[in-house]
Amino acid sequence: MENKSEKEVSRRNFFKITTFGIGGALTFLLGYPLIDSIVSNTKTIAKKAYNRLKPVKNIPGSFVPVTKPSKLHFTKTDQEAFIKITKPIDVWVVKKSEKELTVFSPICPHMGCHYNWNQEKELFICPCHNSVYTIEGKLVSGPAPRGLDTLPQKIENENLYVLYERFELGIPQKIIIGY
Ligand code: FES
Repeated sequence: MENKSEKEVSRRNFFKITTFGIGGALTFLLGYPLIDSIVSNTKTIAKKAYNRLKPVKNIPGSFVPVTKPSKLHFTKTDQEAFIKITKPIDVWVVKKSEKELTVFSPICPHMGCHYNWNQEKELFICPCHNSVYTIEGKLVSGPAPRGLDTLPQKIENENLYVLYERFELGIPQKIIIGY
């Protein structure tokens, strides 16, 4: 049988455990949305930046009509929460002159596959559902709802830079959904 002081001790233990349990649960419930919002904001801000592709003079083209695009790549560094993640990204560049260049997102706007250049047909063709685009990015045929998405670019110190953007898929409008 428990005596009076043993009962007192077990009651105190019960209160301690209950208090810690409720406190822990509240900390998690209140803290999680806060941490999640900090992490989400960090993602968005850190990713928007111009990336250097190549010196313009080293990009093939410079004659009209341009019959061949160049596939160029850069390494994108994203800050996800507190971790840096690097990944290679390819973009398509069409160079008409030293100052006139178009950079296309590598993502097909239908459902997000990577399309390729077909030199024989002189067209971009997506292998997933056969959407076809001209070298200017215009939709020729297939289920894609719009032409290829161009990316913001700039020339600085004779180098071409691109701002990598991601767009909503499967709709006629070009809407930015991330970087
Ligand atoms: S994803 Fe390119 S045609 Fe469907």
